[in-house]
Amino acid sequence: MSGEGALRKTASYEAVPGEVGRVLLLYSGGLDTSVMLKWIQDRYEAEVVALTVNLGQPGEDYEVIEGKALHLGAVECHVVDARETFARDYVGPAIRANALYGGGYPLFTALGRPLIAKLAVEYARRSGCDTIAHGCTGKGNDQVRIEATVMTLAPELKVIAPVRGWQMGRDEEVAYAREHGIPVKGGTEVAPYSIDDNLWGRSSEGRWIEDLDHAPEDDVFQLVTPPEQAPDEPEEVELEFERGLPVAVDGQRLELVELIERVAAIGARHGVGIVDHIEDRIVGLKVRDIYEVPAAAIVLPAHAELEKLVCTIHQNQFKPGLDRQWAYLVYAGLWWEPLREDLDAYMDAVNEHVSGTVALKLYKGTARVVRRSSPNAVYDPALATFAESGGLFSQQASPGFIELWSLQSRMAWRVRHARDG
Ligand code: ARG
Repeated sequence: MSGEGALRKTASYEAVPGEVGRVLLLYSGGLDTSVMLKWIQDRYEAEVVALTVNLGQPGEDYEVIEGKALHLGAVECHVVDARETFARDYVGPAIRANALYGGGYPLFTALGRPLIAKLAVEYARRSGCDTIAHGCTGKGNDQVRIEATVMTLAPELKVIAPVRGWQMGRDEEVAYAREHGIPVKGGTEVAPYSIDDNLWGRSSEGRWIEDLDHAPEDDVFQLVTPPEQAPDEPEEVELEFERGLPVAVDGQRLELVELIERVAAIGARHGVGIVDHIEDRIVGLKVRDIYEVPAAAIVLPAHAELEKLVCTIHQNQFKPGLDRQWAYLVYAGLWWEPLREDLDAYMDAVNEHVSGTVALKLYKGTARVVRRSSPNAVYDPALATFAESGGLFSQQASPGFIELWSLQSRMAWRVRHARDG
């Protein structure tokens, strides 16, 4: 029975065994994609080219992953360091768009998938592959993001997603791995959390996380110190921005990748960036994720604070709606949708003025803005002050303003209330 599902074709871009000669497999080195590497060779009698993309997931040994892929029969294995591209072309725009989905998820996985899939297309073409394979399940958002990208950029390529069809549970996969000499990391009795991470954050799903009534157990936190164990002394961190992007931490200029890593380390030490999130997936499911996003939990509020300072009331009223639309498109796998680029044009225009510094105080899980300054601030202390009256702002003009400003609202109120006497 196992594997039958993979043979049925629902969409035009799905591959059936006869058409598959050489497969580019997005390979992580984990159990699913390792089993897949063998299974594709057996099932499709196809050659497999493995591709592993480094987006800054901590603690990964790429030489070990490459060795494993070749050991399992991959004809080629490519490891691509895409951290800089990821930071510049994906995380950067997300910062300018204050990107948070559902009020709490800074989209690290959603931002990574279109880049991973774009690289898969490039390497598939370069290595003469006709098909791309990935390890996503049929219940998640990642399949949408990867397959929408492949179809958009390379209509000639086919896709296979074995996990959707092979109907192996974890126990069967472990058995398959043992049978085929695939090394299985760690103990196999307890299923591990399902983890995805890159330099912008880390997510955990599965096990007790699926029980909404179960408070987080500390062993899920591999990045961020639980707040109650964080230092008793607060720490201030100062971020400098140029045109909406962070360029320095505590006065030291850093490239974006390094800067994000630096900020993540400081935030993690202080317990900052834990998000326990109920999420509406694009395929309709509602699920819970535990996120550890120490860098995003500092950089995004700092950026938003500075943007608010340099923008007018009208821009500040308008942009959050566009920010939300941006986050939704990216979450929903439509990175290549023209509206995203249209929105980016607006984000870039606004962010031309978002330069300056913001300092946050970090303390046991919180990051609070305590200082901000910008040459572009639409702020004049002489105007705002309570200290003296008169000057440039004429308080005598205010009653006239109030009379006109409230005119329609007052008229409508009177009309409605005259009706009910
Ligand atoms: N819920 C998040 C998202 O849809 C994180 C998904 C993590 N992916 C994973 N394969 N574990 O973007």
